[in-house]
Amino acid sequence: MPPRIAFLACPATLPGSPTRRPDAFEHDLQVGALRDGLAGRAEVLELDWRAPLEKLAKCQLAVLGTVWDYTDHPAEFLTRLEDLAAAGVHVCNPPEVVRWNADKGYLAELAKRGAPSIPTLWPDDPAEADIHAAFDHFGCDRVVVKRRVGAGAVGQFNFVRGDPALAGWRMGHAAMVQPFLPAIQQEGELSLIFIAGMFSHALWKRAVPGDYRIQSLYGGTEHAVTPDADDLAQAEAVIAMLPFEAPPLYARIDMVRGLDGRMALIEAELIEPYLYPRQGPQLGERLGEAILARL
Ligand SMILES: Nc1ncnc2c1ncn2[C@@H]1O[C@H](COP(=O)(O)OP(=O)(O)O)[C@@H](O)[C@H]1O
Ligand SMILES: [Mg+2]
Repeated sequence: MPPRIAFLACPATLPGSPTRRPDAFEHDLQVGALRDGLAGRAEVLELDWRAPLEKLAKCQLAVLGTVWDYTDHPAEFLTRLEDLAAAGVHVCNPPEVVRWNADKGYLAELAKRGAPSIPTLWPDDPAEADIHAAFDHFGCDRVVVKRRVGAGAVGQFNFVRGDPALAGWRMGHAAMVQPFLPAIQQEGELSLIFIAGMFSHALWKRAVPGDYRIQSLYGGTEHAVTPDADDLAQAEAVIAMLPFEAPPLYARIDMVRGLDGRMALIEAELIEPYLYPRQGPQLGERLGEAILARL
């Protein structure tokens, strides 16, 4: 029997689910790429990460494909991955990588190791006064406030100085505050995709005019590029400074131009990054090879 690979998903992404999100086409594209890449060599099953353990444990390897709802249930998700690993399933990326990567505090750690970074404040549950202080601290007129544990720009705020929405505002979550980087609305966000530590492909992601969120859910668009040698070298350096023995099966390094004109790391996505198979037609084959090498 060919090996079985679980592509872990959730009700927001599984085909036929009544609560499937409109951007779940990303799920279909990523599963399709993986299936093509493994054709005749392994079977790919799309499974909810909350499916019974016995069912999941029949797979030799589980990819954290489109587990988009894990951010609402991080503890339950991690327990599930640990249980799977204990049952002998190769979890990719493994629970220790997920634990490290789920809290964006890892960005401060990478900055200390020399990663090009965006100036960031890390308030626990910020309120109005913290945002006023952040404008002064950064010397800027617009800031972005994100959850430390979050994805897909969910629960994100952005404020300008004197914003009436700030009156009485409180975040309700551990947060990170950054200056708003206008480059995101001009050139966009650069993603570099790595499979088993090797560069695979890169693309620019742009928001629709008037928005600054590049996610497809908000109308963002993408186009493939050959990255500048400097940008590629910086992304490779980030991969090399990850605090794990082996490079992760997949990683997406997201960069955006900072106020100083240099590209800076906005995220090193190691949990369930969309890997943009349309912009990297070799993705499925590379991912497939790297998976088979791990079995
Ligand atoms: N400092 C920033 N300046 C401008 N836009 C930002 C900034 N931080 C985040 N964004 C926008 O919000 C999106 C989501 O933020 P990100 O840090 O990538 O977190 P996540 O993708 O996990 O929600 C980014 O892709 C970008 O479009
Ligand atoms: Mg992001």
